[in-house]
Amino acid sequence: MGLLAPSILSADLSNLSQQIRLVEMSGADWIHCDIMDGHFVPNITFGPILVKAARKSTRLPLDVHLMIESPDKYLEDFAEAGANSITVHQEAVIHLNRTVNRIRELGIKAGVAINPSTPVDTLKDIAEYVDLILIMSVNPGFGGQSFIKNSLKKIQETVKLRRELNAKFLIEIDGGIGIENIKAVLDAGCDVFVIGSSIYGEKNVAAAAAELANIIKRTDQK
Ligand code: DX5
Ligand code: ZN
Repeated sequence: MGLLAPSILSADLSNLSQQIRLVEMSGADWIHCDIMDGHFVPNITFGPILVKAARKSTRLPLDVHLMIESPDKYLEDFAEAGANSITVHQEAVIHLNRTVNRIRELGIKAGVAINPSTPVDTLKDIAEYVDLILIMSVNPGFGGQSFIKNSLKKIQETVKLRRELNAKFLIEIDGGIGIENIKAVLDAGCDVFVIGSSIYGEKNVAAAAAELANIIKRTDQK
């Protein structure tokens, strides 16, 4: 049974509370916040102020994905804004063990993300210390891109790594997920499904979220 984490990147931010409410009543488990700085990725989104506004709109955990350079500088700000988990990119951090520990000291879950071109085995030495591993299945920066197929293999490799380490981290997928591929990603062993445009890009946001949530949570599957 997986968790649905709609990304507000593709939501109508002029109506944030209502957009969050729509997915909350349709089975969303977490709200995913994509933070982009125009340096680590070629796009700029929003920062702690909007996370704080989301915090006021829901009791669901806020899953903050930092696609920024020097994320260490901003960990406190996002924790104070109400993040329940902060995920940093392996590619953006020099002392990853220190960063992960710092996030956990803030009393929240620590995640590490890898870009499509970064191999899973680069996470071997950090994996036992994290709560979350996020596999990017598009090149980060924009919603609405196509799923990169070898991400399925990377999920399987991450499942294997977890087994070998006897670790407990959740495996999260982010990018290009929709009705056409969600079952394959679930079968590969993924736990948390970040979905932006296939929810917020749909006419009926609540129905789209509910349909995806049903697939993820069907108990006749693993
Ligand atoms: C991509 C972001 C994703 C994005 C997913 O850089 O990290 O979270 O919002 O959006 P979709 O589901 O549209 O690919
Ligand atoms: Zn994301």
